[in-house]
Amino acid sequence: MALLIKKGRVIDPASGTDDVLDILIEDGKIKDLQKKITRPKTAGVEQIDAAGLIVVPGLIDMHTHLREPGYEYKETIQTGSWAAAAGGFTTIVCMANTNPVNDNASVTNFILDKAVKEACVNVLPVGSITKELKGELLTEIGELKEAGIVAVSDDGVTVKSAEVMRRGLEYARSFSVPVICHCEESDLAAGGVMNEGVTATYLGMRGIPPLAEEIIIEREIALSAWTGQPVHIAHVSTAGSVRIIREAKARGIMVTAETAPHYFSLTEDAVVSFKTDTKVNPPLRSREDMAAVKAGLQDGTLDVIASDHAPHSTLEKDVEFDNAAFGMIGLETSLPLALALVHDGTLTLSQMVEKYTLNPAKILQIDKGRLCPGADADITLIDIDSEFTVDRDSFRSKSRNCPFHGWHLKGRAVYTIVSGTVAFSLKN
Ligand code: DOR
Repeated sequence: MALLIKKGRVIDPASGTDDVLDILIEDGKIKDLQKKITRPKTAGVEQIDAAGLIVVPGLIDMHTHLREPGYEYKETIQTGSWAAAAGGFTTIVCMANTNPVNDNASVTNFILDKAVKEACVNVLPVGSITKELKGELLTEIGELKEAGIVAVSDDGVTVKSAEVMRRGLEYARSFSVPVICHCEESDLAAGGVMNEGVTATYLGMRGIPPLAEEIIIEREIALSAWTGQPVHIAHVSTAGSVRIIREAKARGIMVTAETAPHYFSLTEDAVVSFKTDTKVNPPLRSREDMAAVKAGLQDGTLDVIASDHAPHSTLEKDVEFDNAAFGMIGLETSLPLALALVHDGTLTLSQMVEKYTLNPAKILQIDKGRLCPGADADITLIDIDSEFTVDRDSFRSKSRNCPFHGWHLKGRAVYTIVSGTVAFSLKN
């Protein structure tokens, strides 16, 4: 089985390539990348005309919640993978807060088996740092790694005890496993449902202060320096967090960070609608925070854009704001929202692509995120000028908790190719 992608503008930040090239794929791998490749005379070579399209390494979403096992009514590994492919992602990294929690090798094996049978993109599981996300007993990180996890995280909650986190970092370090940190001091955040500030006061809602996030980021950075284990900060949302990470990087601490599209696309003003799709953790913040997140993306303080795709059903969302679950889906809107930053000049195309490909691959130590002969043929083709209106009812995801429904966006994935096979095409 061979595939020839003709005349696309290939952008590969790993090699610094930005050029109109042809790409030949054979047996799931990139065989050749040249100015002009003529179609091999062998039978069964398909061709994609990529003239006018951007061709990039398959996008990686390093922060996804698939709800299987346990909450299949919200999302399954299969439906999550369909949503990923439709959003241009060839690899998704799924968090451990399933039921049961991915805190042992049998859950990891279950996810990987299901993924092989039912997913149309690569699914890489994250194991938890502590058993049942309780913040008490460490998991067997070595066993989890052997079973196939790519990182550990208690995402959804912070490991409350600095002592447990310290031991977790030391333990992860001995197996070279990346650690992803959910940063929120639970006492400071207790009972909060949106950003603390004037808007929360006006709405009569309890706030979550930026300090709740920042104090734990400071702690994780200190623990990283102490233990020598790199830390990756999940879903950065505040100006203070961006400043703290920027300063830590300047000091040579091994800290990397991601933000999610909703933190550079929406502010707390969206909560005034009382729509529960705007309830997310960390919460949507102020205009100043949003500006700082964009600046952090621009200067490289924030290495990665990750969706934090968090599917919830109407059971959890069609309720009073106070009682609604935190989270919004994001796989099918992430890339178009990030392209808005390219269209408005905040990021170059290459900078944006790097945050979805090379950077997450480096942080996770996976052999993905680049286009070169011999690499896995995971490739995304993007039409950056295609305009469309977000329609959550047409989503592949099982859930509908999307605050961007009805938004007019510009740019989207038109082909998602996983190991040389077309997993999504806008035409079909
Ligand atoms: O809003 C959120 N939802 N933030 C998290 O950290 C977890 C996620 C979920 O799993 O629903």
